[in-house]
Amino acid sequence: MRDDRGRFHPRNDLNDLTGREWLAFTRTWFVADSKRYWRNKRTELHPARFPEEMVEPFVRFFTKQGMWVLDPFAGSGATLVACQEAERCSVGIEVNPRYAATARERVLTLATQPAVVIESDVRRVAEPDFWAPALSAGCPVVEGLPQLDFILTSPPYWNMLRTSRGHVFSSQRERASKGLDTHYSDNPADLGNLTDYDTFVETLGLVFDTLAPLLRPNRYLVVVAQNLRAPGGEVKTLAWDLARRIGRTYQFQGERIWCQNVKRLGIWGYPRIFVPNYHHHYCLIFRKPAVG
Ligand SMILES: C[S@@+](CC[C@H](N)C(=O)[O-])C[C@H]1O[C@@H](n2cnc3c(N)ncnc32)[C@H](O)[C@@H]1O
Repeated sequence: MRDDRGRFHPRNDLNDLTGREWLAFTRTWFVADSKRYWRNKRTELHPARFPEEMVEPFVRFFTKQGMWVLDPFAGSGATLVACQEAERCSVGIEVNPRYAATARERVLTLATQPAVVIESDVRRVAEPDFWAPALSAGCPVVEGLPQLDFILTSPPYWNMLRTSRGHVFSSQRERASKGLDTHYSDNPADLGNLTDYDTFVETLGLVFDTLAPLLRPNRYLVVVAQNLRAPGGEVKTLAWDLARRIGRTYQFQGERIWCQNVKRLGIWGYPRIFVPNYHHHYCLIFRKPAVG
């Protein structure tokens, strides 16, 4: 079948895209900088949001209309809002009651598709009745567990929000001066409060292991993460470490790099040391194997 978007393949069971649209998405980098991006950035909602414009193409690539998407670190609900726009059903999990309320409110104003925000620690997903709100919203279920078509999320980037670089242009300082959140919460259940790096990576690995049985075979998980420079100057290869750790359970399929072309450059090491301005994020793409 063909229309002015291009040709649809009859055996495409992944998405509703034409061959041309599919091909465009396979480029391993992209820039999300348009006017819509800046309008939707809404940094006052949350200290580490990703914009809906960045998420929506992933939702459209990895699902068909009406499928179910989970964001286990939902924050202000960008994934859920993108799912409304793309006519997908969605579930968000968020430990911070304020962000959970924000996500719920934002989704409710659109409310064209079923969408549920569960306010909880994601590590509780195996507890009885955890999924009850999603199941009553119509999420398909097998043996009491939801059957998800896609998981897309951005977990805390370790405890980086708690560390100010102490420079003049520190974004934490700027946010603090406006009375905005500079970190998620002081709740010990918040994974952004874990101080040991290896424990953090392993904890996230376990979270995604626990979610694997809920994802339908051959379907996808996308984790947005970044390599980081710790305040002492050491670079932590968070994105790469997560690719390795999560790749023990899911098959790593590659990455798309989200480039940020309009962020202010900080002059950290000048004039003696190379210190990168990390203005890109890895969208790590994993596939759940058919068996196992
Ligand atoms: C990088 S932010 C996600 C932002 C989101 N993508 C958005 O656009 O708003 C990570 C989120 O994970 C939440 N979080 C941290 N620990 C959690 C936990 N144990 N269970 C569920 N959510 C958690 C934080 O409160 C924070 O909102």
